[in-house]
Amino acid sequence: MAPDIASPAVTSRLLGKVLLVSVDNPPVNAVGVDVRRGLVSAIDAAQADQAVAAVLIVGAGRNFIAGADIREFGQPPQPPALPEVCNRIEASSKPVIAALHGAALGGGLEVALAAHYRLAVNGVKLGLPEVQLGLMPGAGGTQRAPRLIGMAPALELMLSGRHVGAEEALALGLVDRLGRSDDTLAEGLAYAQELLAGGAAVRRTRDAQALADRAASRAALDAARADVAARSRGLFSPHKIVEAVEAALDLPFDEGLRLERTLFLQCIDSPQRAGLIHAFFAEREVAKAPETKAAQPRPLTSAGVVGGGTMGAGIAVAMLDAGMTVTMIERDEESLARGRANVEKVYDGLVAKGRLSAEAKAAVMARFGGATAYDALSQADVVVEAVFEDMAVKQAVFAELNRVCKPGAVLATNTSYLDIDVIAASISRPQDVLGLHFFSPAHIMKLLEIVVPAKVSADAVATGFELAKKLRKVAVRAGVCDGFIGNRILAVYRQAADVMVEDGASPYQIDAALREFGYPMGPYQVSDLAGGDIGWATRKRRAATRDPRARYVEIADRICERGWFGQKTGRGWYLYAKRSRSGMPDPEVLAIVDAERKRAGITPRRFSNEEIVRRYLAAMINEGANVVHEGIALRPLDVDVTFVAGYGFPRHRGGPMKYADMVGLPRVLADIREFGREDPLFWRPSPLLVDLVEHNRNFDSLNRAA
Ligand code: 3HC
Ligand code: NAI
Repeated sequence: MAPDIASPAVTSRLLGKVLLVSVDNPPVNAVGVDVRRGLVSAIDAAQADQAVAAVLIVGAGRNFIAGADIREFGQPPQPPALPEVCNRIEASSKPVIAALHGAALGGGLEVALAAHYRLAVNGVKLGLPEVQLGLMPGAGGTQRAPRLIGMAPALELMLSGRHVGAEEALALGLVDRLGRSDDTLAEGLAYAQELLAGGAAVRRTRDAQALADRAASRAALDAARADVAARSRGLFSPHKIVEAVEAALDLPFDEGLRLERTLFLQCIDSPQRAGLIHAFFAEREVAKAPETKAAQPRPLTSAGVVGGGTMGAGIAVAMLDAGMTVTMIERDEESLARGRANVEKVYDGLVAKGRLSAEAKAAVMARFGGATAYDALSQADVVVEAVFEDMAVKQAVFAELNRVCKPGAVLATNTSYLDIDVIAASISRPQDVLGLHFFSPAHIMKLLEIVVPAKVSADAVATGFELAKKLRKVAVRAGVCDGFIGNRILAVYRQAADVMVEDGASPYQIDAALREFGYPMGPYQVSDLAGGDIGWATRKRRAATRDPRARYVEIADRICERGWFGQKTGRGWYLYAKRSRSGMPDPEVLAIVDAERKRAGITPRRFSNEEIVRRYLAAMINEGANVVHEGIALRPLDVDVTFVAGYGFPRHRGGPMKYADMVGLPRVLADIREFGREDPLFWRPSPLLVDLVEHNRNFDSLNRAA
């Protein structure tokens, strides 16, 4: 049989009696319209061709099939739909075998489930991750997976979206056998020939019996429903998954499929799908900063960290976890011992929980060294400074780095706010200096702002991005300004929140309103977690340059003056019982708020939760627009990723700029103008926002143009 030229994305070749159908749609073999058409015509051809006894489906390149082509969602549908393709595969009168390697995810796994036999090789990643995109399996997965592997495991796969490796897939019954080698094609062919030799018949997943124990299946379904009600509040698709899977128990297969389709289309139409898919693509776009295209990263094996406090220790752990060797510099032996203990504490915690063996901890710590003399950094490829937030202290550290580090070493600062151009200018190699702004706790938080000062060379920046990849961080390129992207915008919306507190909302109402919006915590809970002293120090530093006409709310200062810095002092905006991390509202804080309102001559008014969110988001979006306008962020999507990855912004809303697009920029601008009637200095519309509204454009148009 000649290769199928009707669809370049799927080719067919007859090998003996087996029709080899290869999906070839780089980069990840997503099932777009060409793949769907190609699969259908290959199956049709196999039915018609006497010479074909069985069909073997494989993926070309590094993956089987990574799922439906998510770029098509929201576009007009192009037939055949994927459920139809899967039904045609399953209905084949000749056995269909899927041989899986790499990603077999979402629609990819659904294609495999529609086949009659499945083989997987090492390194395979199976899963139904649709939930992470605001979706549910929409090509039979909700009906076939439970019938094949049972209610509880199928629901767990769909609701977590996690990937399953080869051994587990075999144990679950998702695949029938594992290949002995990594050669998917050879293993798949051998399996197909063996099946033919044994006279194996077609075996349809729709007829599988793993739900036969109805009572146990019902109990698993009820448990999942209760879990979703408790843990996925505010999310759309997890509820739809449970509803669809219930049909696998209660309805005939074809009716279940029809219900799945209806619910899937509801998910497609949901704003959460738009937000989550935006977040998925935005996280991949941010990695493509201009410097990563223009230059090659420098070598990255050994690292130095200066300072072993909260951040230095966390950064060291992140680097050790990535397999790097790390040398920590502290000011004296006592501080160094504390720094080492901070690092060890993290691993001891894992050992205590049984997630790491004592030997594995020892192996990691063997890559860790400490010193009080800078010469220990002479061979480091990259050094991250995380000492006190003080320009003179940082410059003294950089002078030492300048003295001892080898030529080409990347010299980074973790400063939160200080001017990195000034730090760079203080040494003789500004081309090697940049900001690597980690977030606390640095070994856990996903975000890394890569701050690019004027004189740094492109390959040093590319090295920053390479380091982020190694550490599995989401790196966002930021320009130099006070607070870079994240903390600069944070200062503005936090000010909007403080003003609302002074005007009549309680900090507890504000936190509750933002949790309702989808944040895991409100801003005052976050402040208590991070330590109120950090923001207090920043406010004091900025006091001298603050516009004297700007409104300044002193409530937070009154709280800090009492030494109430949050969880670490047992008291902040909330009261914390001994060792408790969840705080109680504090009547004394409310009394302070009251006293401050009186002092400022303000008669408190009521705020609805909706108004709180509207003001908070308007402040965030407006400053986000300024940050893009000034080139501090490359595009609106860089602001989105910063807030989703580093500031708890609800991922299903895509990020503040995506949220603004969904609300509509004219409405956001109208809000800002309305609020500006009370305080025109604070609520100055960003020139970029005004311009976009005037030209009837949205933020996403800037993402696409970049
Ligand atoms: N559709 C369209 N493009 C996709 C895609 C998909 N399903 N999956 C990945 N891509 C694109 C990425 O955007 C990226 O494009 P770029 O090079 O232009 O930036 C490129 O493929 C490579 O992706 P990664 O950078 O993520 O490559 P990795 O090798 O790191 O990871 C992966 C590969 C594990 C497959 C990862 O891309 C992934 O998890 N993809 C999404 C899988 C998924 O969610 N599938 C379910 C889709 S929904 C569905 O199937 C509905 C069905 O039930 C009807
Ligand atoms: P920290 O006070 O916990 O730790 C600072 C450490 O630096 C101390 O262990 C101290 O002994 C050491 N140190 C001070 N001077 C030194 C010197 N000359 N040589 C060697 N070591 C020295 O402070 P933290 O919170 O770790 O902050 C460090 C830096 O990270 C600051 O620039 C801060 O702005 C920034 N940052 C902090 C975040 C946070 O949430 N704590 C988040 C992101 C950045």
